[in-house]
Amino acid sequence: MDSKKIRKKFLDFFEKKKHKIVPSSSLIPEDKTVLFTTAGMQQFKDYYVDKESPYGSRVATAQKCFRTSDIEEVGDKDHLTFLEMLGNFSFGDYFKEETIGWALEFLTEECGIEMNRLVFTIFKGEKNVPEDLDSKKIWISLGADESQIEKLGMEDNFWGPTGNSGPCGPTTEIHYDLTGKPCGKDCHLDCECGRYVEIWNLVFNEYYQDEEGQLSSLKSKGVDTGMGLERLAMVIQNKSHVFETDLFTPLQERIDSLAESKKEERGKRIIADHVKGAVFLISEGVKPSNTEEGYVLRRLLRRAMRHAKILELPKNSLEKISEVVFEIYKDDYLVATDKESVFKVIRKERKKFEKALEKGLKEFEKEVANGKLKGETAFHLYSTYGFPLEMIKELCEEKKIDFNQEGFEKAREKHKMVSRAGAEEKFGGLSEDPDKNEVKLHTATHLLHESLRRVLGSHVKQEGSDINSERLRFDFSHPQGMKKDEIKKVEEMVNQKIEEGLEREIEEMDYEEAVSKGVLAFFEKDRYPDKVKVYSFVDSSGEAFSKELCGGPHVKNTAHLGKFKIKKEKSSGKGVRRIKAVLN
Ligand code: ALA
Repeated sequence: MDSKKIRKKFLDFFEKKKHKIVPSSSLIPEDKTVLFTTAGMQQFKDYYVDKESPYGSRVATAQKCFRTSDIEEVGDKDHLTFLEMLGNFSFGDYFKEETIGWALEFLTEECGIEMNRLVFTIFKGEKNVPEDLDSKKIWISLGADESQIEKLGMEDNFWGPTGNSGPCGPTTEIHYDLTGKPCGKDCHLDCECGRYVEIWNLVFNEYYQDEEGQLSSLKSKGVDTGMGLERLAMVIQNKSHVFETDLFTPLQERIDSLAESKKEERGKRIIADHVKGAVFLISEGVKPSNTEEGYVLRRLLRRAMRHAKILELPKNSLEKISEVVFEIYKDDYLVATDKESVFKVIRKERKKFEKALEKGLKEFEKEVANGKLKGETAFHLYSTYGFPLEMIKELCEEKKIDFNQEGFEKAREKHKMVSRAGAEEKFGGLSEDPDKNEVKLHTATHLLHESLRRVLGSHVKQEGSDINSERLRFDFSHPQGMKKDEIKKVEEMVNQKIEEGLEREIEEMDYEEAVSKGVLAFFEKDRYPDKVKVYSFVDSSGEAFSKELCGGPHVKNTAHLGKFKIKKEKSSGKGVRRIKAVLN
Protein backbone atom coordinates (compact mmCIF):
# COMPACT_ATOMS: atom_id res chain seq x y z
CA MET A 1 0.00 0.00 0.00
CA ASP A 2 1.58 3.32 -0.97
CA SER A 3 1.50 6.30 1.36
CA LYS A 4 -1.20 8.10 -0.61
CA LYS A 5 -3.47 5.08 -0.14
CA ILE A 6 -2.60 4.87 3.55
CA ARG A 7 -3.41 8.55 4.08
CA LYS A 8 -6.67 8.19 2.17
CA LYS A 9 -7.59 5.01 3.99
CA PHE A 10 -7.13 6.78 7.30
CA LEU A 11 -9.27 9.75 6.35
CA ASP A 12 -11.96 7.54 4.73
CA PHE A 13 -12.04 5.33 7.80
CA PHE A 14 -12.75 8.26 10.07
CA GLU A 15 -15.14 9.85 7.63
CA LYS A 16 -17.17 6.67 7.87
CA LYS A 17 -17.10 7.14 11.63
CA LYS A 18 -18.76 10.52 11.08
CA HIS A 19 -15.66 12.71 11.25
CA LYS A 20 -15.34 15.90 9.24
CA ILE A 21 -12.11 15.88 7.23
CA VAL A 22 -10.33 19.20 7.75
CA PRO A 23 -7.32 20.35 5.70
CA SER A 24 -3.89 20.60 7.28
CA SER A 25 -3.11 23.99 8.81
CA SER A 26 0.08 25.93 8.07
CA LEU A 27 3.46 24.83 9.42
CA ILE A 28 3.74 28.29 10.95
CA PRO A 29 1.11 28.39 13.70
CA GLU A 30 -0.99 31.32 14.86
CA ASP A 31 0.14 30.64 18.44
CA LYS A 32 3.26 32.76 18.58
CA THR A 33 4.65 31.01 21.66
CA VAL A 34 5.77 28.16 19.37
CA LEU A 35 7.78 28.40 16.16
CA PHE A 36 6.26 25.54 14.22
CA THR A 37 3.22 23.31 14.04
CA THR A 38 4.43 20.14 15.69
CA ALA A 39 1.13 18.33 16.25
CA GLY A 40 -2.27 17.91 14.62
CA MET A 41 -4.25 19.31 17.53
CA GLN A 42 -2.66 22.76 17.45
CA GLN A 43 -5.21 24.25 15.07
CA PHE A 44 -8.02 22.91 17.28
CA LYS A 45 -6.69 23.91 20.70
CA ASP A 46 -9.56 26.24 21.57
CA TYR A 47 -12.25 23.70 20.70
CA TYR A 48 -11.25 21.59 23.69
CA VAL A 49 -11.66 24.54 26.00
CA ASP A 50 -14.22 27.22 25.31
CA LYS A 51 -14.85 27.74 21.61
CA GLU A 52 -17.32 25.81 19.56
CA SER A 53 -15.77 23.88 16.70
CA PRO A 54 -17.07 25.11 13.33
CA TYR A 55 -16.43 21.58 12.00
CA GLY A 56 -18.59 19.74 14.53
CA SER A 57 -17.35 17.58 17.38
CA ARG A 58 -15.52 14.91 15.33
CA VAL A 59 -12.64 15.84 13.08
CA ALA A 60 -9.81 14.03 11.29
CA THR A 61 -6.76 15.42 9.51
CA ALA A 62 -3.47 14.67 7.86
CA GLN A 63 -1.37 17.51 9.28
CA LYS A 64 1.98 18.83 8.09
CA CYS A 65 4.32 19.03 11.07
CA PHE A 66 7.84 20.30 11.53
CA ARG A 67 10.04 19.34 14.48
CA THR A 68 13.52 20.63 15.15
CA SER A 69 14.08 18.88 18.47
CA ASP A 70 15.51 15.77 16.80
CA ILE A 71 17.40 17.43 13.99
CA GLU A 72 20.66 15.71 14.91
CA GLU A 73 18.98 12.32 14.93
CA VAL A 74 17.92 12.67 11.30
CA GLY A 75 19.51 9.87 9.33
CA ASP A 76 18.52 7.12 11.79
CA LYS A 77 15.52 4.83 11.23
CA ASP A 78 12.65 7.09 12.21
CA HIS A 79 13.56 10.74 12.91
CA LEU A 80 12.55 13.48 10.53
CA THR A 81 12.15 17.25 10.56
CA PHE A 82 9.11 17.36 8.28
CA LEU A 83 6.46 14.73 8.87
CA GLU A 84 2.78 14.16 8.37
CA MET A 85 0.62 13.36 11.32
CA LEU A 86 -2.63 11.49 10.88
CA GLY A 87 -5.10 12.30 13.63
CA ASN A 88 -8.66 11.99 14.79
CA PHE A 89 -10.11 14.42 17.29
CA SER A 90 -13.15 14.58 19.52
CA PHE A 91 -14.31 17.77 21.19
CA GLY A 92 -16.58 16.62 24.01
CA ASP A 93 -17.91 13.78 21.83
CA TYR A 94 -16.54 10.20 22.03
CA PHE A 95 -13.86 9.18 24.50
CA LYS A 96 -11.61 6.23 25.34
CA GLU A 97 -13.74 3.28 24.26
CA GLU A 98 -14.24 4.48 20.69
CA THR A 99 -10.75 5.95 20.35
CA ILE A 100 -8.97 2.76 21.30
CA GLY A 101 -11.41 0.50 19.48
CA TRP A 102 -11.12 2.43 16.22
CA ALA A 103 -7.34 2.69 16.45
CA LEU A 104 -7.05 -1.06 16.78
CA GLU A 105 -9.64 -1.68 14.07
CA PHE A 106 -7.80 0.62 11.68
CA LEU A 107 -4.38 -0.92 12.29
CA THR A 108 -5.41 -4.56 12.25
CA GLU A 109 -8.32 -4.65 9.83
CA GLU A 110 -7.53 -1.82 7.42
CA CYS A 111 -3.75 -2.00 7.50
CA GLY A 112 -3.32 -5.72 8.14
CA ILE A 113 -0.98 -5.26 11.10
CA GLU A 114 -0.79 -8.23 13.44
CA MET A 115 -2.13 -7.62 16.92
CA ASN A 116 0.64 -9.63 18.54
CA ARG A 117 3.29 -7.26 17.16
CA LEU A 118 1.81 -4.34 19.11
CA VAL A 119 2.66 -3.06 22.57
CA PHE A 120 0.43 -0.59 24.40
CA THR A 121 1.54 1.85 27.05
CA ILE A 122 -0.87 3.42 29.51
CA PHE A 123 -0.57 6.11 32.17
CA LYS A 124 0.42 4.63 35.53
CA GLY A 125 -0.90 7.49 37.70
CA GLU A 126 1.27 10.28 39.07
CA LYS A 127 1.00 13.77 40.58
CA ASN A 128 -2.72 13.77 41.41
CA VAL A 129 -3.65 12.33 38.03
CA PRO A 130 -5.00 8.80 38.57
CA GLU A 131 -3.89 5.64 36.81
CA ASP A 132 -5.67 5.07 33.50
CA LEU A 133 -7.41 1.83 34.41
CA ASP A 134 -10.08 2.38 31.76
CA SER A 135 -7.65 2.22 28.87
CA LYS A 136 -6.13 -0.94 30.24
CA LYS A 137 -9.55 -2.55 30.55
CA ILE A 138 -10.44 -1.55 27.02
CA TRP A 139 -7.20 -2.96 25.52
CA ILE A 140 -7.78 -6.24 27.36
CA SER A 141 -11.41 -6.41 26.28
CA LEU A 142 -10.20 -6.02 22.69
CA GLY A 143 -7.91 -9.01 22.98
CA ALA A 144 -4.60 -7.58 24.24
CA ASP A 145 -2.62 -9.77 26.57
CA GLU A 146 -1.48 -8.31 29.92
CA SER A 147 2.11 -8.78 28.72
CA GLN A 148 1.45 -6.36 25.84
CA ILE A 149 0.57 -3.53 28.22
CA GLU A 150 3.14 -1.36 29.96
CA LYS A 151 2.46 1.35 32.51
CA LEU A 152 4.51 4.53 32.34
CA GLY A 153 4.50 7.89 34.08
CA MET A 154 4.05 11.57 33.28
CA GLU A 155 7.10 11.82 31.04
CA ASP A 156 5.94 9.16 28.64
CA ASN A 157 2.18 8.92 28.95
CA PHE A 158 0.94 12.43 29.54
CA TRP A 159 0.83 14.83 26.62
CA GLY A 160 0.58 18.57 26.15
CA PRO A 161 0.00 21.38 26.26
CA THR A 162 1.71 22.91 23.26
CA GLY A 163 2.85 26.49 23.86
CA ASN A 164 2.32 28.23 27.19
CA SER A 165 -0.94 26.65 28.24
CA GLY A 166 -3.78 24.52 26.94
CA PRO A 167 -5.46 21.14 26.93
CA CYS A 168 -3.50 18.06 27.96
CA GLY A 169 -4.02 14.64 29.46
CA PRO A 170 -3.00 11.02 29.89
CA THR A 171 -2.19 9.01 26.80
CA THR A 172 -2.08 5.48 25.61
CA GLU A 173 0.52 4.78 22.95
CA ILE A 174 0.78 2.06 20.35
CA HIS A 175 4.24 0.70 19.56
CA TYR A 176 5.14 -1.78 16.83
CA ASP A 177 7.70 -4.52 17.30
CA LEU A 178 9.84 -4.41 14.15
CA THR A 179 12.10 -7.36 14.81
CA GLY A 180 10.19 -9.63 17.17
CA LYS A 181 13.47 -10.22 19.00
CA PRO A 182 14.90 -8.60 22.13
CA CYS A 183 18.53 -7.51 21.76
CA GLY A 184 19.32 -8.73 25.29
CA LYS A 185 17.72 -9.09 28.66
CA ASP A 186 17.39 -5.33 29.19
CA CYS A 187 15.73 -4.67 25.83
CA HIS A 188 12.88 -2.21 26.34
CA LEU A 189 10.46 -0.01 24.41
CA ASP A 190 12.95 2.85 24.14
CA CYS A 191 15.91 0.58 23.50
CA GLU A 192 18.67 1.89 21.25
CA CYS A 193 18.62 -1.39 19.31
CA GLY A 194 15.61 0.05 17.49
CA ARG A 195 13.36 -2.94 18.02
CA TYR A 196 10.26 -0.82 18.56
CA VAL A 197 8.79 2.13 16.78
CA GLU A 198 6.07 4.26 18.31
CA ILE A 199 3.34 4.65 15.76
CA TRP A 200 0.26 6.19 17.38
CA ASN A 201 -0.31 8.40 20.34
CA LEU A 202 -3.87 8.56 21.72
CA VAL A 203 -4.30 11.53 24.05
CA PHE A 204 -7.27 11.91 26.37
CA ASN A 205 -7.59 15.62 26.98
CA GLU A 206 -9.18 15.84 30.39
CA TYR A 207 -7.15 18.71 31.80
CA TYR A 208 -6.22 22.28 31.13
CA GLN A 209 -2.76 23.43 32.14
CA ASP A 210 -2.47 27.14 32.84
CA GLU A 211 0.62 29.30 32.44
CA GLU A 212 1.64 28.52 36.01
CA GLY A 213 1.61 24.83 35.24
CA GLN A 214 -1.53 24.13 37.30
CA LEU A 215 -3.92 21.46 36.06
CA SER A 216 -7.69 21.84 36.22
CA SER A 217 -10.36 19.58 34.79
CA LEU A 218 -11.77 20.52 31.41
CA LYS A 219 -15.53 20.99 31.28
CA SER A 220 -15.87 18.40 28.57
CA LYS A 221 -13.42 15.66 27.72
CA GLY A 222 -11.67 15.50 24.40
CA VAL A 223 -9.52 13.21 22.27
CA ASP A 224 -6.41 14.08 20.26
CA THR A 225 -4.54 11.40 18.38
CA GLY A 226 -1.43 11.50 16.24
CA MET A 227 0.18 8.86 14.06
CA GLY A 228 3.23 9.55 11.91
CA LEU A 229 2.40 8.68 8.31
CA GLU A 230 6.06 7.97 7.52
CA ARG A 231 6.34 5.49 10.39
CA LEU A 232 3.05 3.80 9.56
CA ALA A 233 4.19 3.49 5.94
CA MET A 234 7.45 1.96 7.16
CA VAL A 235 5.53 -0.71 9.08
CA ILE A 236 2.98 -1.42 6.35
CA GLN A 237 5.60 -1.44 3.57
CA ASN A 238 7.78 -3.70 5.70
CA LYS A 239 10.83 -1.43 5.65
CA SER A 240 13.48 -1.03 8.26
CA HIS A 241 13.51 2.75 8.14
CA VAL A 242 11.40 5.64 6.97
CA PHE A 243 13.78 6.54 4.14
CA GLU A 244 12.90 3.29 2.37
CA THR A 245 9.22 4.16 2.16
CA ASP A 246 7.70 5.68 -0.95
CA LEU A 247 7.66 9.06 0.82
CA PHE A 248 11.43 9.08 0.38
CA THR A 249 12.50 6.60 -2.29
CA PRO A 250 12.07 9.05 -5.21
CA LEU A 251 14.32 11.49 -3.34
CA GLN A 252 16.83 8.77 -2.59
CA GLU A 253 16.83 7.73 -6.24
CA ARG A 254 17.45 11.27 -7.43
CA ILE A 255 20.30 11.68 -4.94
CA ASP A 256 21.76 8.32 -5.96
CA SER A 257 21.67 9.26 -9.62
CA LEU A 258 23.46 12.54 -8.90
CA ALA A 259 25.93 10.91 -6.54
CA GLU A 260 27.03 8.26 -9.01
CA SER A 261 28.75 5.59 -6.99
CA LYS A 262 29.21 7.36 -3.67
CA LYS A 263 27.94 5.47 -0.64
CA GLU A 264 27.51 7.89 2.35
CA GLU A 265 23.97 6.63 3.17
CA ARG A 266 23.51 8.81 6.24
CA GLY A 267 24.47 11.92 4.30
CA LYS A 268 21.97 11.04 1.58
CA ARG A 269 19.22 10.68 4.14
CA ILE A 270 20.11 14.00 5.73
CA ILE A 271 19.91 15.65 2.32
CA ALA A 272 16.57 13.97 1.59
CA ASP A 273 15.07 15.06 4.90
CA HIS A 274 16.51 18.56 4.91
CA VAL A 275 15.61 19.38 1.32
CA LYS A 276 12.06 18.17 1.92
CA GLY A 277 11.82 20.23 5.12
CA ALA A 278 13.28 23.27 3.38
CA VAL A 279 10.83 23.06 0.46
CA PHE A 280 7.90 22.94 2.87
CA LEU A 281 9.16 25.86 4.95
CA ILE A 282 9.81 27.95 1.86
CA SER A 283 6.39 27.04 0.49
CA GLU A 284 4.96 28.65 3.64
CA GLY A 285 6.85 31.88 3.09
CA VAL A 286 9.89 31.29 5.35
CA LYS A 287 13.14 32.85 4.06
CA PRO A 288 16.65 31.98 5.24
CA SER A 289 17.78 34.39 7.98
CA ASN A 290 19.65 34.47 11.28
CA THR A 291 16.68 34.23 13.62
CA GLU A 292 13.82 31.90 14.43
CA GLU A 293 12.15 30.00 11.55
CA GLY A 294 14.52 31.59 9.07
CA TYR A 295 17.54 30.29 10.91
CA VAL A 296 16.09 26.80 11.03
CA LEU A 297 15.66 26.94 7.26
CA ARG A 298 19.20 28.25 6.83
CA ARG A 299 20.57 25.40 8.95
CA LEU A 300 18.69 22.83 6.86
CA LEU A 301 20.01 24.18 3.59
CA ARG A 302 23.59 24.68 4.75
CA ARG A 303 23.81 21.23 6.26
CA ALA A 304 22.34 19.70 3.12
CA MET A 305 24.88 21.64 1.05
CA ARG A 306 27.78 20.24 2.99
CA HIS A 307 26.56 16.68 2.58
CA ALA A 308 26.04 17.36 -1.11
CA LYS A 309 29.65 18.47 -1.26
CA ILE A 310 30.88 15.29 0.42
CA LEU A 311 28.94 13.32 -2.17
CA GLU A 312 30.44 15.51 -4.89
CA LEU A 313 27.01 16.34 -6.25
CA PRO A 314 26.83 18.94 -9.02
CA LYS A 315 26.37 22.51 -7.82
CA ASN A 316 22.65 22.89 -8.51
CA SER A 317 21.74 19.54 -6.96
CA LEU A 318 19.64 20.89 -4.11
CA GLU A 319 17.30 22.46 -6.66
CA LYS A 320 17.27 19.21 -8.65
CA ILE A 321 16.46 17.25 -5.53
CA SER A 322 13.75 19.67 -4.47
CA GLU A 323 11.96 19.07 -7.77
CA VAL A 324 11.29 15.57 -6.50
CA VAL A 325 9.59 16.91 -3.36
CA PHE A 326 7.05 18.47 -5.73
CA GLU A 327 6.58 15.14 -7.49
CA ILE A 328 5.85 13.39 -4.18
CA TYR A 329 3.42 16.00 -2.86
CA LYS A 330 2.10 17.71 -5.98
CA ASP A 331 -1.46 16.45 -5.48
CA ASP A 332 -1.49 17.05 -1.77
CA TYR A 333 0.24 20.01 -0.19
CA LEU A 334 2.22 21.65 -2.92
CA VAL A 335 -0.49 22.01 -5.57
CA ALA A 336 -0.51 25.78 -5.41
CA THR A 337 3.17 26.34 -4.71
CA ASP A 338 5.21 28.03 -7.38
CA LYS A 339 8.18 25.72 -7.90
CA GLU A 340 10.38 28.37 -9.44
CA SER A 341 10.09 30.71 -6.51
CA VAL A 342 11.09 27.88 -4.17
CA PHE A 343 14.12 27.01 -6.31
CA LYS A 344 15.04 30.67 -6.34
CA VAL A 345 15.23 30.86 -2.55
CA ILE A 346 17.35 27.71 -2.45
CA ARG A 347 19.61 28.96 -5.22
CA LYS A 348 20.12 32.28 -3.48
CA GLU A 349 21.07 30.67 -0.18
CA ARG A 350 23.30 28.21 -1.99
CA LYS A 351 25.16 30.99 -3.76
CA LYS A 352 25.47 32.92 -0.54
CA PHE A 353 27.06 30.01 1.28
CA GLU A 354 28.99 28.27 -1.50
CA LYS A 355 32.19 30.26 -1.20
CA ALA A 356 32.06 30.48 2.57
CA LEU A 357 31.62 26.72 2.75
CA GLU A 358 34.60 26.18 0.52
CA LYS A 359 36.82 28.57 2.42
CA GLY A 360 35.64 27.46 5.84
CA LEU A 361 36.20 23.80 5.03
CA LYS A 362 39.73 24.58 3.87
CA GLU A 363 40.43 26.38 7.09
CA PHE A 364 38.97 23.51 9.04
CA GLU A 365 41.00 20.88 7.18
CA LYS A 366 44.19 22.83 7.61
CA GLU A 367 43.75 23.17 11.31
CA VAL A 368 42.59 19.65 12.10
CA ALA A 369 45.66 18.26 10.41
CA ASN A 370 47.14 18.85 13.89
CA GLY A 371 44.38 16.70 15.41
CA LYS A 372 42.64 19.64 17.09
CA LEU A 373 40.18 22.41 16.40
CA LYS A 374 40.82 25.56 18.40
CA GLY A 375 37.81 27.24 19.96
CA GLU A 376 38.77 30.45 18.16
CA THR A 377 38.71 28.72 14.79
CA ALA A 378 35.41 27.01 15.53
CA PHE A 379 33.93 30.38 16.39
CA HIS A 380 35.42 31.87 13.24
CA LEU A 381 33.72 29.17 11.17
CA TYR A 382 30.47 29.99 12.92
CA SER A 383 30.58 33.77 12.81
CA THR A 384 32.52 34.57 9.65
CA TYR A 385 31.63 31.65 7.40
CA GLY A 386 28.15 31.06 8.80
CA PHE A 387 28.66 27.39 9.65
CA PRO A 388 25.78 26.27 11.87
CA LEU A 389 27.06 24.91 15.16
CA GLU A 390 25.74 21.40 14.57
CA MET A 391 27.66 21.35 11.30
CA ILE A 392 30.93 22.20 13.05
CA LYS A 393 30.26 19.46 15.57
CA GLU A 394 29.42 17.01 12.83
CA LEU A 395 32.71 17.89 11.11
CA CYS A 396 34.58 17.20 14.35
CA GLU A 397 32.76 13.90 14.83
CA GLU A 398 33.70 12.81 11.33
CA LYS A 399 37.35 13.59 12.03
CA LYS A 400 37.06 11.90 15.43
CA ILE A 401 38.29 14.97 17.22
CA ASP A 402 36.69 16.55 20.26
CA PHE A 403 34.70 19.67 19.72
CA ASN A 404 36.13 22.21 22.12
CA GLN A 405 32.91 23.67 23.45
CA GLU A 406 34.59 25.65 26.17
CA GLY A 407 37.03 27.23 23.74
CA PHE A 408 34.18 28.02 21.40
CA GLU A 409 32.18 29.65 24.20
CA LYS A 410 35.23 31.59 25.26
CA ALA A 411 35.75 32.94 21.78
CA ARG A 412 32.09 33.76 21.51
CA GLU A 413 32.12 35.56 24.83
CA LYS A 414 35.17 37.55 23.80
CA HIS A 415 33.47 38.52 20.60
CA LYS A 416 30.39 39.50 22.58
CA MET A 417 32.40 41.73 24.88
CA VAL A 418 34.06 43.39 21.93
CA SER A 419 30.89 43.93 20.02
CA ARG A 420 27.82 43.96 22.20
CA ALA A 421 25.82 45.00 19.24
CA GLY A 422 26.95 42.01 17.19
CA ALA A 423 24.09 40.24 15.50
CA GLU A 424 25.33 36.84 16.55
CA GLU A 425 25.36 37.58 20.24
CA LYS A 426 24.47 34.33 21.77
CA PHE A 427 24.66 32.56 25.03
CA GLY A 428 24.48 28.82 24.95
CA GLY A 429 22.79 29.05 21.61
CA LEU A 430 20.40 31.82 22.58
CA SER A 431 19.92 34.37 19.87
CA GLU A 432 19.57 38.05 20.73
CA ASP A 433 15.84 37.98 20.56
CA PRO A 434 15.09 34.62 22.05
CA ASP A 435 11.50 33.52 21.92
CA LYS A 436 9.73 32.67 25.14
CA ASN A 437 10.41 29.00 24.92
CA GLU A 438 14.14 29.57 24.61
CA VAL A 439 14.08 31.63 27.79
CA LYS A 440 12.17 28.89 29.59
CA LEU A 441 14.60 26.26 28.38
CA HIS A 442 17.47 28.43 29.53
CA THR A 443 16.02 28.53 33.06
CA ALA A 444 15.39 24.78 32.88
CA THR A 445 19.07 24.36 31.98
CA HIS A 446 20.07 25.98 35.29
CA LEU A 447 17.68 23.72 37.21
CA LEU A 448 19.00 20.70 35.34
CA HIS A 449 22.62 21.60 36.04
CA GLU A 450 22.01 21.92 39.77
CA SER A 451 19.90 18.74 39.87
CA LEU A 452 22.67 16.80 38.12
CA ARG A 453 25.15 18.03 40.70
CA ARG A 454 22.85 16.98 43.54
CA VAL A 455 22.04 13.57 42.11
CA LEU A 456 25.40 12.62 40.55
CA GLY A 457 27.84 14.70 42.58
CA SER A 458 29.65 18.01 42.48
CA HIS A 459 32.12 16.80 39.84
CA VAL A 460 29.39 17.59 37.32
CA LYS A 461 30.39 20.67 35.39
CA GLN A 462 28.89 22.30 32.34
CA GLU A 463 30.81 21.47 29.19
CA GLY A 464 28.41 22.99 26.76
CA SER A 465 24.90 24.25 26.31
CA ASP A 466 22.78 24.74 23.26
CA ILE A 467 19.21 25.90 23.20
CA ASN A 468 16.72 26.29 20.42
CA SER A 469 13.03 26.96 20.62
CA GLU A 470 12.20 23.28 20.98
CA ARG A 471 14.77 21.72 23.26
CA LEU A 472 17.80 22.22 25.41
CA ARG A 473 21.00 20.30 25.09
CA PHE A 474 23.43 20.14 27.95
CA ASP A 475 26.90 18.60 27.96
CA PHE A 476 28.50 17.90 31.31
CA SER A 477 31.42 16.07 32.80
CA HIS A 478 30.55 12.67 34.22
CA PRO A 479 32.59 9.50 33.77
CA GLN A 480 29.83 7.04 32.84
CA GLY A 481 26.33 6.79 31.41
CA MET A 482 23.52 7.74 33.75
CA LYS A 483 21.41 4.91 35.08
CA LYS A 484 17.68 4.90 34.44
CA ASP A 485 16.86 5.73 38.05
CA GLU A 486 19.38 8.60 38.05
CA ILE A 487 17.73 10.08 35.00
CA LYS A 488 14.39 9.73 36.71
CA LYS A 489 15.64 11.37 39.91
CA VAL A 490 17.07 14.32 38.03
CA GLU A 491 13.89 14.73 36.04
CA GLU A 492 11.79 14.59 39.19
CA MET A 493 14.00 17.11 40.95
CA VAL A 494 13.71 19.58 38.09
CA ASN A 495 9.94 19.09 37.95
CA GLN A 496 9.65 19.53 41.68
CA LYS A 497 11.58 22.80 41.51
CA ILE A 498 9.33 23.93 38.69
CA GLU A 499 6.28 23.14 40.78
CA GLU A 500 7.69 24.92 43.82
CA GLY A 501 7.64 28.12 41.79
CA LEU A 502 11.17 29.34 42.55
CA GLU A 503 11.62 33.09 42.14
CA ARG A 504 14.36 34.52 39.96
CA GLU A 505 16.83 36.84 41.71
CA ILE A 506 19.52 38.84 39.93
CA GLU A 507 22.47 40.29 41.81
CA GLU A 508 25.49 42.13 40.53
CA MET A 509 28.77 41.55 42.29
CA ASP A 510 32.48 41.12 41.75
CA TYR A 511 33.57 37.90 40.12
CA GLU A 512 35.75 37.06 43.14
CA GLU A 513 32.88 37.60 45.54
CA ALA A 514 30.56 35.40 43.47
CA VAL A 515 33.04 32.56 43.33
CA SER A 516 33.81 32.80 47.04
CA LYS A 517 30.07 32.45 47.67
CA GLY A 518 30.10 29.19 45.75
CA VAL A 519 28.29 30.48 42.68
CA LEU A 520 28.75 28.22 39.68
CA ALA A 521 30.99 29.71 37.02
CA PHE A 522 32.18 27.70 34.03
CA PHE A 523 34.87 29.81 32.55
CA GLU A 524 38.08 31.39 33.74
CA LYS A 525 37.94 34.81 35.31
CA ASP A 526 39.22 36.55 32.18
CA ARG A 527 36.01 35.58 30.43
CA TYR A 528 33.94 37.77 32.68
CA PRO A 529 33.71 41.49 33.22
CA ASP A 530 34.65 42.81 36.72
CA LYS A 531 31.04 43.04 37.76
CA VAL A 532 29.13 39.86 37.02
CA LYS A 533 25.48 38.95 37.15
CA VAL A 534 24.39 36.09 39.36
CA TYR A 535 21.07 34.43 38.62
CA SER A 536 19.53 32.52 41.52
CA PHE A 537 16.30 30.57 41.79
CA VAL A 538 14.99 30.89 45.29
CA ASP A 539 12.23 29.08 47.19
CA SER A 540 9.64 30.68 49.45
CA SER A 541 11.92 30.36 52.50
CA GLY A 542 14.54 32.41 50.68
CA GLU A 543 16.88 29.51 50.02
CA ALA A 544 18.54 29.40 46.61
CA PHE A 545 18.33 26.08 44.78
CA SER A 546 20.63 27.18 41.98
CA LYS A 547 23.04 30.09 41.65
CA GLU A 548 24.99 30.70 38.46
CA LEU A 549 26.97 33.41 36.78
CA CYS A 550 25.01 34.10 33.66
CA GLY A 551 23.99 36.72 31.16
CA GLY A 552 20.33 35.72 31.20
CA PRO A 553 17.59 36.02 30.13
CA HIS A 554 15.50 33.89 32.49
CA VAL A 555 11.85 33.54 33.48
CA LYS A 556 10.68 35.35 36.62
CA ASN A 557 9.27 32.27 38.27
CA THR A 558 9.90 28.61 37.49
CA ALA A 559 6.21 27.81 37.83
CA HIS A 560 5.81 28.96 34.24
CA LEU A 561 8.07 26.36 32.72
CA GLY A 562 5.72 23.42 32.13
CA LYS A 563 6.82 19.81 32.39
CA PHE A 564 10.47 18.91 32.06
CA LYS A 565 11.42 15.72 30.26
CA ILE A 566 14.80 14.22 29.45
CA LYS A 567 14.59 12.82 25.94
CA LYS A 568 18.09 11.41 25.65
CA GLU A 569 21.22 10.81 27.64
CA LYS A 570 24.27 9.70 25.74
CA SER A 571 28.02 10.04 25.43
CA SER A 572 29.45 13.20 23.93
CA GLY A 573 33.15 12.45 24.00
CA LYS A 574 35.40 11.07 26.68
CA GLY A 575 34.08 11.76 30.17
CA VAL A 576 31.34 13.97 28.80
CA ARG A 577 27.66 13.13 28.70
CA ARG A 578 24.95 14.86 26.74
CA ILE A 579 21.35 15.37 27.76
CA LYS A 580 18.59 16.53 25.51
CA ALA A 581 15.47 17.70 27.24
CA VAL A 582 12.23 19.47 26.47
CA LEU A 583 9.50 21.33 28.28
CA ASN A 584 5.98 20.21 27.47
N1 ALA B 1 -0.78 15.54 19.96
C1 ALA B 1 -0.25 14.24 20.14
C2 ALA B 1 1.17 14.09 19.64
O1 ALA B 1 1.66 14.96 18.97
C3 ALA B 1 -1.14 13.22 19.53
O2 ALA B 1 1.80 13.10 19.91
